Amino acid sequence: MSVRESRVLAIIGQGYVGLPLAMAAIDAGWKVIGIDNFEAKVSQINSGISPVEDISDSQLQAALASGAYRASSDFSSVAKASVITICVPTPLDENREPDLSLLQNAATAIAPFVSNETLIVNESTSYPGTLRDIIIPTVDSLKPKDSINVYFASAPERVNPGDPVWNQKNTPRLVGAIDAASQDKAFAFYESICDFAISVSSPEVAEAAKLLENTFRLVNIALINEFTQLCASSGINVHEVIDAASSKPYGFMPFRPGVGVGGHCIPIDPLYLTWWASKKGNKADFISAADAVNQRMPRYVAKRALALVDSSRINPRVLILGVAYKPGVGDVRETPVAELRDYLLAQGAEVAWHDPLVSIWNDSEPVDLEWKCDVAILATKQPGMNVKALAERGIQILDCTNSLKNVAGVTAL
Ligand SMILES: NC(=O)c1ccc[n+]([C@@H]2O[C@H](COP(=O)([O-])OP(=O)(O)OC[C@H]3O[C@@H](n4cnc5c(N)ncnc54)[C@H](O)[C@@H]3O)[C@@H](O)[C@H]2O)c1
Repeated sequence: MSVRESRVLAIIGQGYVGLPLAMAAIDAGWKVIGIDNFEAKVSQINSGISPVEDISDSQLQAALASGAYRASSDFSSVAKASVITICVPTPLDENREPDLSLLQNAATAIAPFVSNETLIVNESTSYPGTLRDIIIPTVDSLKPKDSINVYFASAPERVNPGDPVWNQKNTPRLVGAIDAASQDKAFAFYESICDFAISVSSPEVAEAAKLLENTFRLVNIALINEFTQLCASSGINVHEVIDAASSKPYGFMPFRPGVGVGGHCIPIDPLYLTWWASKKGNKADFISAADAVNQRMPRYVAKRALALVDSSRINPRVLILGVAYKPGVGDVRETPVAELRDYLLAQGAEVAWHDPLVSIWNDSEPVDLEWKCDVAILATKQPGMNVKALAERGIQILDCTNSLKNVAGVTAL
Protein backbone atom coordinates (compact mmCIF):
# COMPACT_ATOMS: atom_id res chain seq x y z
CA MET A 1 0.00 0.00 0.00
CA SER A 2 1.41 3.40 -1.00
CA VAL A 3 2.00 5.91 1.74
CA ARG A 4 0.45 9.34 1.35
CA GLU A 5 2.87 12.22 0.87
CA SER A 6 2.31 15.93 1.40
CA ARG A 7 2.24 18.21 -1.65
CA VAL A 8 1.36 15.33 -3.94
CA LEU A 9 -1.57 16.09 -6.18
CA ALA A 10 -3.52 13.52 -8.19
CA ILE A 11 -5.56 14.96 -11.06
CA ILE A 12 -8.25 12.79 -12.57
CA GLY A 13 -8.52 13.61 -16.29
CA GLN A 14 -5.59 14.95 -18.30
CA GLY A 15 -7.33 17.08 -20.90
CA TYR A 16 -7.78 20.80 -21.55
CA VAL A 17 -8.33 21.39 -17.82
CA GLY A 18 -6.32 18.67 -16.07
CA LEU A 19 -3.01 18.94 -17.91
CA PRO A 20 -2.63 22.73 -17.57
CA LEU A 21 -3.55 22.35 -13.88
CA ALA A 22 -0.79 19.74 -13.55
CA MET A 23 1.78 22.09 -15.05
CA ALA A 24 0.64 25.01 -12.86
CA ALA A 25 0.85 22.83 -9.74
CA ILE A 26 4.36 21.67 -10.65
CA ASP A 27 5.42 25.31 -11.04
CA ALA A 28 4.06 25.84 -7.52
CA GLY A 29 6.19 23.00 -6.12
CA TRP A 30 3.69 20.13 -6.17
CA LYS A 31 4.41 16.62 -7.40
CA VAL A 32 1.64 15.56 -9.73
CA ILE A 33 0.19 12.22 -10.79
CA GLY A 34 -1.97 12.82 -13.86
CA ILE A 35 -4.55 10.05 -14.04
CA ASP A 36 -6.52 9.37 -17.19
CA ASN A 37 -8.47 6.26 -18.15
CA PHE A 38 -7.65 6.72 -21.84
CA GLU A 39 -4.44 4.69 -22.04
CA ALA A 40 -3.35 5.99 -25.44
CA LYS A 41 -3.45 9.52 -24.04
CA VAL A 42 -1.42 8.47 -20.99
CA SER A 43 1.26 6.95 -23.28
CA GLN A 44 1.27 10.02 -25.50
CA ILE A 45 1.73 12.33 -22.50
CA ASN A 46 4.46 10.17 -20.98
CA SER A 47 6.30 10.20 -24.32
CA GLY A 48 6.38 14.00 -24.07
CA ILE A 49 3.74 14.86 -26.68
CA SER A 50 1.16 17.26 -25.32
CA PRO A 51 -2.47 16.63 -26.33
CA VAL A 52 -3.49 20.25 -25.67
CA GLU A 53 -2.35 23.47 -27.36
CA ASP A 54 -1.87 25.41 -24.12
CA ILE A 55 0.92 23.09 -22.98
CA SER A 56 3.92 22.82 -25.27
CA ASP A 57 5.82 19.58 -25.75
CA SER A 58 8.91 21.20 -24.24
CA GLN A 59 7.03 22.25 -21.08
CA LEU A 60 5.63 18.74 -20.72
CA GLN A 61 9.03 17.14 -21.37
CA ALA A 62 10.65 19.36 -18.72
CA ALA A 63 7.98 18.34 -16.20
CA LEU A 64 8.51 14.65 -16.98
CA ALA A 65 12.31 14.98 -16.84
CA SER A 66 12.16 16.75 -13.45
CA GLY A 67 10.44 13.73 -11.93
CA ALA A 68 7.63 15.99 -10.67
CA TYR A 69 5.07 14.66 -13.14
CA ARG A 70 3.91 11.35 -14.54
CA ALA A 71 0.68 10.36 -16.26
CA SER A 72 -0.91 7.06 -15.28
CA SER A 73 -4.06 5.04 -15.73
CA ASP A 74 -3.57 3.36 -12.36
CA PHE A 75 -6.10 4.79 -9.92
CA SER A 76 -4.41 3.14 -6.93
CA SER A 77 -1.71 5.81 -7.17
CA VAL A 78 -4.16 8.38 -5.73
CA ALA A 79 -3.34 6.80 -2.36
CA LYS A 80 -0.11 8.85 -2.42
CA ALA A 81 -1.93 12.14 -2.89
CA SER A 82 -2.90 14.66 -0.24
CA VAL A 83 -5.14 16.41 -2.77
CA ILE A 84 -7.21 14.85 -5.58
CA THR A 85 -8.88 17.06 -8.16
CA ILE A 86 -11.47 15.75 -10.60
CA CYS A 87 -11.30 17.26 -14.12
CA VAL A 88 -13.33 14.92 -16.31
CA PRO A 89 -15.86 15.78 -19.03
CA THR A 90 -19.44 16.58 -18.08
CA PRO A 91 -21.26 16.38 -21.42
CA LEU A 92 -24.92 16.09 -22.39
CA ASP A 93 -26.62 12.81 -23.17
CA GLU A 94 -28.73 12.08 -26.25
CA ASN A 95 -31.67 13.94 -24.63
CA ARG A 96 -29.47 17.00 -24.12
CA GLU A 97 -29.52 16.41 -20.37
CA PRO A 98 -26.50 16.22 -18.01
CA ASP A 99 -24.44 13.08 -18.44
CA LEU A 100 -22.52 12.70 -15.21
CA SER A 101 -21.44 9.12 -15.85
CA LEU A 102 -17.76 10.06 -16.31
CA LEU A 103 -17.78 12.08 -13.10
CA GLN A 104 -19.50 9.23 -11.30
CA ASN A 105 -16.93 6.76 -12.73
CA ALA A 106 -14.06 8.98 -11.58
CA ALA A 107 -15.45 9.19 -8.03
CA THR A 108 -16.03 5.43 -7.99
CA ALA A 109 -12.50 4.71 -9.23
CA ILE A 110 -10.69 6.91 -6.69
CA ALA A 111 -12.81 6.07 -3.65
CA PRO A 112 -11.19 2.71 -2.71
CA PHE A 113 -7.76 4.38 -2.62
CA VAL A 114 -8.33 7.62 -0.71
CA SER A 115 -6.20 8.07 2.39
CA ASN A 116 -7.12 9.70 5.66
CA GLU A 117 -7.22 13.54 5.52
CA THR A 118 -7.27 13.62 1.72
CA LEU A 119 -8.89 16.64 0.09
CA ILE A 120 -11.09 15.87 -2.93
CA VAL A 121 -12.04 18.80 -5.13
CA ASN A 122 -14.39 18.72 -8.06
CA GLU A 123 -13.31 21.09 -10.85
CA SER A 124 -15.62 19.66 -13.53
CA THR A 125 -18.53 21.90 -14.43
CA SER A 126 -21.92 20.72 -13.22
CA TYR A 127 -25.18 21.84 -11.63
CA PRO A 128 -25.36 23.07 -8.02
CA GLY A 129 -25.47 20.07 -5.70
CA THR A 130 -23.23 17.78 -7.73
CA LEU A 131 -20.50 17.54 -5.09
CA ARG A 132 -23.01 16.80 -2.33
CA ASP A 133 -25.36 14.58 -4.36
CA ILE A 134 -22.91 12.48 -6.35
CA ILE A 135 -19.27 12.71 -5.36
CA ILE A 136 -19.52 12.69 -1.57
CA PRO A 137 -21.95 9.72 -1.28
CA THR A 138 -19.92 7.73 -3.80
CA VAL A 139 -16.61 8.30 -2.04
CA ASP A 140 -18.09 7.82 1.42
CA SER A 141 -19.67 4.50 0.48
CA LEU A 142 -16.55 3.09 -1.23
CA LYS A 143 -13.65 4.49 0.79
CA PRO A 144 -11.37 1.81 2.31
CA LYS A 145 -12.51 2.34 5.93
CA ASP A 146 -15.37 4.25 7.51
CA SER A 147 -12.89 5.90 9.84
CA ILE A 148 -11.10 7.64 6.97
CA ASN A 149 -11.81 11.35 7.03
CA VAL A 150 -12.08 13.02 3.62
CA TYR A 151 -12.36 16.75 2.94
CA PHE A 152 -14.52 17.90 0.04
CA ALA A 153 -14.75 21.10 -1.99
CA SER A 154 -15.84 22.44 -5.32
CA ALA A 155 -13.61 24.81 -7.32
CA PRO A 156 -14.90 24.99 -10.89
CA GLU A 157 -12.24 25.42 -13.55
CA ARG A 158 -12.33 28.67 -15.55
CA VAL A 159 -9.57 27.95 -18.07
CA ASN A 160 -9.96 29.55 -21.48
CA PRO A 161 -7.93 27.40 -23.92
CA GLY A 162 -5.81 29.41 -26.35
CA ASP A 163 -5.96 32.55 -24.19
CA PRO A 164 -2.51 34.21 -24.15
CA VAL A 165 -3.33 36.33 -21.08
CA TRP A 166 -5.50 34.39 -18.64
CA ASN A 167 -4.31 31.05 -17.30
CA GLN A 168 -4.51 28.77 -14.27
CA LYS A 169 -2.23 31.00 -12.23
CA ASN A 170 -3.65 34.46 -12.80
CA THR A 171 -7.36 33.59 -13.08
CA PRO A 172 -9.05 33.99 -9.68
CA ARG A 173 -10.41 30.70 -8.39
CA LEU A 174 -13.69 30.24 -6.50
CA VAL A 175 -13.51 27.74 -3.67
CA GLY A 176 -16.57 26.45 -1.82
CA ALA A 177 -16.37 23.55 0.62
CA ILE A 178 -18.71 21.50 2.75
CA ASP A 179 -17.31 22.58 6.12
CA ALA A 180 -14.72 24.89 7.65
CA ALA A 181 -11.91 22.31 7.72
CA SER A 182 -12.45 21.43 4.04
CA GLN A 183 -12.60 25.12 3.17
CA ASP A 184 -9.27 25.82 4.87
CA LYS A 185 -7.58 22.90 3.10
CA ALA A 186 -9.03 23.75 -0.32
CA PHE A 187 -8.31 27.44 0.00
CA ALA A 188 -4.69 26.75 0.99
CA PHE A 189 -4.30 24.39 -1.97
CA TYR A 190 -5.56 26.93 -4.54
CA GLU A 191 -3.66 29.75 -2.89
CA SER A 192 -0.50 27.71 -3.47
CA ILE A 193 -1.20 27.53 -7.21
CA CYS A 194 -3.23 30.60 -8.15
CA ASP A 195 -2.60 34.28 -7.54
CA PHE A 196 -6.12 34.68 -6.12
CA ALA A 197 -8.41 32.20 -4.42
CA ILE A 198 -11.84 33.44 -3.38
CA SER A 199 -13.86 31.74 -0.66
CA VAL A 200 -17.58 31.32 -1.17
CA SER A 201 -19.95 29.97 1.45
CA SER A 202 -20.76 26.58 -0.09
CA PRO A 203 -19.92 24.23 -2.98
CA GLU A 204 -23.31 25.10 -4.47
CA VAL A 205 -22.40 28.80 -4.74
CA ALA A 206 -19.20 27.89 -6.60
CA GLU A 207 -21.04 25.45 -8.87
CA ALA A 208 -23.81 27.96 -9.61
CA ALA A 209 -21.33 30.79 -10.26
CA LYS A 210 -19.62 28.71 -12.95
CA LEU A 211 -22.96 28.10 -14.68
CA LEU A 212 -23.86 31.77 -14.42
CA GLU A 213 -20.56 32.79 -16.05
CA ASN A 214 -21.08 30.56 -19.06
CA THR A 215 -24.81 31.23 -19.33
CA PHE A 216 -24.04 34.94 -19.37
CA ARG A 217 -21.91 34.34 -22.46
CA LEU A 218 -24.51 32.10 -24.10
CA VAL A 219 -27.35 34.61 -23.81
CA ASN A 220 -25.25 37.57 -24.89
CA ILE A 221 -23.95 35.68 -27.92
CA ALA A 222 -27.53 34.69 -28.75
CA LEU A 223 -28.66 38.30 -28.42
CA ILE A 224 -26.01 39.50 -30.83
CA ASN A 225 -26.65 36.62 -33.22
CA GLU A 226 -30.33 37.57 -33.35
CA PHE A 227 -29.53 41.26 -33.59
CA THR A 228 -27.16 40.53 -36.50
CA GLN A 229 -30.01 39.01 -38.46
CA LEU A 230 -32.19 42.06 -37.82
CA CYS A 231 -29.43 44.41 -38.96
CA ALA A 232 -28.50 42.34 -42.02
CA SER A 233 -32.08 42.35 -43.28
CA SER A 234 -31.89 46.18 -43.35
CA GLY A 235 -28.41 46.34 -44.84
CA ILE A 236 -26.81 47.55 -41.60
CA ASN A 237 -23.32 46.30 -40.72
CA VAL A 238 -23.73 44.92 -37.20
CA HIS A 239 -20.05 45.33 -36.38
CA GLU A 240 -20.26 49.05 -36.98
CA VAL A 241 -23.26 49.11 -34.64
CA ILE A 242 -21.40 47.14 -31.96
CA ASP A 243 -18.39 49.45 -32.27
CA ALA A 244 -20.67 52.45 -31.98
CA ALA A 245 -22.47 51.08 -28.92
CA SER A 246 -19.11 50.23 -27.35
CA SER A 247 -18.28 53.93 -27.16
CA LYS A 248 -20.63 54.08 -24.15
CA PRO A 249 -18.26 54.01 -21.19
CA TYR A 250 -20.59 52.05 -18.88
CA GLY A 251 -23.38 49.50 -19.03
CA PHE A 252 -22.45 47.88 -22.34
CA MET A 253 -20.19 44.95 -23.15
CA PRO A 254 -19.51 44.01 -26.79
CA PHE A 255 -20.23 40.48 -28.04
CA ARG A 256 -19.72 39.47 -31.68
CA PRO A 257 -21.88 37.25 -33.89
CA GLY A 258 -20.63 33.97 -35.29
CA VAL A 259 -21.64 30.57 -36.63
CA GLY A 260 -23.00 29.61 -33.22
CA VAL A 261 -21.44 28.43 -29.99
CA GLY A 262 -19.12 25.46 -29.53
CA GLY A 263 -16.68 23.76 -27.21
CA HIS A 264 -17.16 21.94 -23.99
CA CYS A 265 -18.66 24.85 -22.06
CA ILE A 266 -20.89 27.50 -23.61
CA PRO A 267 -23.33 25.24 -25.49
CA ILE A 268 -23.49 22.71 -22.66
CA ASP A 269 -23.29 24.35 -19.25
CA PRO A 270 -26.47 26.46 -19.63
CA LEU A 271 -28.37 23.24 -20.32
CA TYR A 272 -27.17 21.95 -16.96
CA LEU A 273 -28.85 25.05 -15.56
CA THR A 274 -32.13 24.51 -17.43
CA TRP A 275 -32.14 20.85 -16.38
CA TRP A 276 -31.45 21.80 -12.76
CA ALA A 277 -34.25 24.39 -12.93
CA SER A 278 -36.75 21.84 -14.23
CA LYS A 279 -35.73 19.30 -11.56
CA LYS A 280 -36.64 21.90 -8.96
CA GLY A 281 -39.95 22.64 -10.69
CA ASN A 282 -38.67 25.95 -12.10
CA LYS A 283 -38.41 27.27 -15.63
CA ALA A 284 -35.45 28.85 -17.39
CA ASP A 285 -37.21 30.14 -20.53
CA PHE A 286 -34.72 32.88 -21.23
CA ILE A 287 -31.81 30.42 -21.41
CA SER A 288 -33.79 27.99 -23.56
CA ALA A 289 -34.62 30.79 -26.01
CA ALA A 290 -30.95 31.80 -26.21
CA ASP A 291 -29.96 28.19 -26.87
CA ALA A 292 -32.53 27.98 -29.68
CA VAL A 293 -31.27 31.19 -31.34
CA ASN A 294 -27.69 29.92 -31.32
CA GLN A 295 -28.72 26.53 -32.66
CA ARG A 296 -30.41 28.17 -35.64
CA MET A 297 -27.35 30.26 -36.45
CA PRO A 298 -25.44 27.73 -38.63
CA ARG A 299 -28.43 27.54 -41.01
CA TYR A 300 -28.63 31.29 -41.20
CA VAL A 301 -24.90 31.45 -42.03
CA ALA A 302 -25.31 28.77 -44.69
CA LYS A 303 -28.17 30.69 -46.33
CA ARG A 304 -26.18 33.92 -46.29
CA ALA A 305 -23.21 32.16 -47.94
CA LEU A 306 -25.32 30.44 -50.60
CA ALA A 307 -26.92 33.80 -51.42
CA LEU A 308 -23.47 34.97 -52.53
CA VAL A 309 -23.30 32.24 -55.18
CA ASP A 310 -24.67 32.67 -58.70
CA SER A 311 -28.19 31.19 -58.45
CA SER A 312 -27.70 29.21 -61.70
CA ARG A 313 -25.11 27.05 -59.93
CA ILE A 314 -26.80 23.73 -59.08
CA ASN A 315 -24.26 22.21 -56.70
CA PRO A 316 -22.20 25.12 -55.41
CA ARG A 317 -18.77 24.34 -54.03
CA VAL A 318 -18.36 25.76 -50.54
CA LEU A 319 -15.08 25.94 -48.66
CA ILE A 320 -15.33 26.28 -44.87
CA LEU A 321 -12.34 27.98 -43.29
CA GLY A 322 -11.74 26.98 -39.66
CA VAL A 323 -13.75 24.14 -38.14
CA ALA A 324 -12.52 24.30 -34.53
CA TYR A 325 -15.02 26.02 -32.25
CA LYS A 326 -12.72 28.98 -31.65
CA PRO A 327 -9.42 30.41 -32.92
CA GLY A 328 -6.09 29.06 -31.76
CA VAL A 329 -7.27 25.58 -30.76
CA GLY A 330 -7.83 22.34 -32.66
CA ASP A 331 -10.83 21.46 -30.45
CA VAL A 332 -13.86 20.52 -32.56
CA ARG A 333 -16.14 19.42 -29.72
CA GLU A 334 -19.66 20.78 -30.25
CA THR A 335 -18.38 22.98 -33.05
CA PRO A 336 -21.32 24.75 -34.74
CA VAL A 337 -19.48 24.26 -38.02
CA ALA A 338 -20.72 20.65 -38.02
CA GLU A 339 -24.32 21.85 -38.35
CA LEU A 340 -23.20 24.39 -40.95
CA ARG A 341 -21.60 21.68 -43.05
CA ASP A 342 -24.56 19.29 -42.68
CA TYR A 343 -27.00 21.97 -43.72
CA LEU A 344 -24.93 22.97 -46.76
CA LEU A 345 -24.71 19.33 -47.81
CA ALA A 346 -28.47 18.97 -47.38
CA GLN A 347 -28.88 21.94 -49.73
CA GLY A 348 -26.90 20.06 -52.39
CA ALA A 349 -23.62 21.92 -51.92
CA GLU A 350 -20.26 20.26 -52.29
CA VAL A 351 -18.42 21.11 -49.08
CA ALA A 352 -14.74 21.00 -48.15
CA TRP A 353 -12.93 22.43 -45.14
CA HIS A 354 -9.57 23.82 -44.21
CA ASP A 355 -8.13 24.25 -40.70
CA PRO A 356 -4.38 24.35 -39.97
CA LEU A 357 -4.99 23.07 -36.41
CA VAL A 358 -7.27 20.15 -37.27
CA SER A 359 -5.91 17.17 -39.20
CA ILE A 360 -9.04 15.04 -39.29
CA TRP A 361 -12.66 15.89 -38.58
CA ASN A 362 -15.80 13.75 -38.84
CA ASP A 363 -13.74 11.13 -40.72
CA SER A 364 -12.77 13.65 -43.38
CA GLU A 365 -9.49 15.37 -44.21
CA PRO A 366 -8.90 19.05 -44.90
CA VAL A 367 -8.23 20.50 -48.33
CA ASP A 368 -5.76 23.29 -49.05
CA LEU A 369 -6.74 26.82 -49.94
CA GLU A 370 -6.33 26.05 -53.65
CA TRP A 371 -9.55 23.95 -53.59
CA LYS A 372 -11.80 25.45 -56.26
CA CYS A 373 -14.89 26.93 -54.67
CA ASP A 374 -17.77 29.27 -55.45
CA VAL A 375 -17.84 30.75 -51.98
CA ALA A 376 -15.80 30.46 -48.81
CA ILE A 377 -17.12 30.82 -45.27
CA LEU A 378 -14.62 32.10 -42.75
CA ALA A 379 -16.06 30.34 -39.71
CA THR A 380 -13.06 30.42 -37.34
CA LYS A 381 -10.01 32.60 -37.93
CA GLN A 382 -7.17 30.19 -37.27
CA PRO A 383 -3.59 31.41 -37.14
CA GLY A 384 -1.61 30.62 -40.30
CA MET A 385 -4.61 30.77 -42.65
CA ASN A 386 -3.98 33.15 -45.54
CA VAL A 387 -7.59 34.06 -46.23
CA LYS A 388 -6.72 37.31 -47.98
CA ALA A 389 -5.04 35.27 -50.75
CA LEU A 390 -8.45 33.70 -51.46
CA ALA A 391 -10.07 37.12 -51.75
CA GLU A 392 -7.29 38.22 -54.11
CA ARG A 393 -8.22 35.26 -56.35
CA GLY A 394 -11.71 36.77 -56.61
CA ILE A 395 -13.47 34.27 -54.37
CA GLN A 396 -16.49 35.54 -52.46
CA ILE A 397 -16.00 35.16 -48.72
CA LEU A 398 -18.59 35.35 -45.96
CA ASP A 399 -16.63 36.49 -42.93
CA CYS A 400 -18.18 35.29 -39.66
CA THR A 401 -15.19 36.49 -37.63
CA ASN A 402 -15.04 40.24 -38.28
CA SER A 403 -11.36 39.84 -39.15
CA LEU A 404 -11.33 40.85 -42.83
CA LYS A 405 -12.29 44.50 -42.84
CA ASN A 406 -12.39 46.51 -46.08
CA VAL A 407 -11.26 43.59 -48.26
CA ALA A 408 -12.88 43.42 -51.70
CA GLY A 409 -15.09 40.36 -52.15
CA VAL A 410 -15.58 39.89 -48.40
CA THR A 411 -19.06 40.16 -46.87
CA ALA A 412 -19.34 40.53 -43.12
CA LEU A 413 -21.88 38.35 -41.36
N1 LIG B 1 -12.14 22.87 -21.95
C1 LIG B 1 -12.47 24.00 -21.36
O1 LIG B 1 -12.30 25.09 -21.90
C2 LIG B 1 -13.07 24.00 -19.96
C3 LIG B 1 -13.05 25.19 -19.22
C4 LIG B 1 -13.57 25.20 -17.94
C5 LIG B 1 -14.16 24.03 -17.43
N2 LIG B 1 -14.19 22.91 -18.20
C6 LIG B 1 -14.81 21.73 -17.60
O2 LIG B 1 -13.77 20.88 -17.12
C7 LIG B 1 -14.15 19.50 -17.27
C8 LIG B 1 -13.10 18.76 -18.10
O3 LIG B 1 -13.09 19.31 -19.41
P1 LIG B 1 -11.87 19.14 -20.41
O4 LIG B 1 -12.08 20.17 -21.47
O5 LIG B 1 -10.57 19.12 -19.69
O6 LIG B 1 -12.13 17.69 -20.99
P2 LIG B 1 -11.13 16.82 -21.89
O7 LIG B 1 -11.96 15.90 -22.68
O8 LIG B 1 -10.15 17.70 -22.59
O9 LIG B 1 -10.30 15.98 -20.83
C9 LIG B 1 -10.90 15.11 -19.92
C10 LIG B 1 -10.04 13.88 -19.76
O10 LIG B 1 -10.66 13.07 -18.79
C11 LIG B 1 -10.47 11.71 -19.16
N3 LIG B 1 -11.49 10.92 -18.46
C12 LIG B 1 -12.80 10.79 -18.76
N4 LIG B 1 -13.40 10.03 -17.83
C13 LIG B 1 -12.45 9.68 -16.94
C14 LIG B 1 -12.45 8.92 -15.76
N5 LIG B 1 -13.58 8.36 -15.28
N6 LIG B 1 -11.29 8.74 -15.11
C15 LIG B 1 -10.15 9.29 -15.57
N7 LIG B 1 -10.09 10.04 -16.67
C16 LIG B 1 -11.23 10.24 -17.34
C17 LIG B 1 -10.59 11.71 -20.66
O11 LIG B 1 -9.92 10.59 -21.23
C18 LIG B 1 -9.90 13.05 -21.02
O12 LIG B 1 -8.53 12.86 -21.32
C19 LIG B 1 -15.54 19.54 -17.87
O13 LIG B 1 -16.50 19.50 -16.84
C20 LIG B 1 -15.60 20.88 -18.56
O14 LIG B 1 -16.91 21.36 -18.71
C21 LIG B 1 -13.64 22.86 -19.43
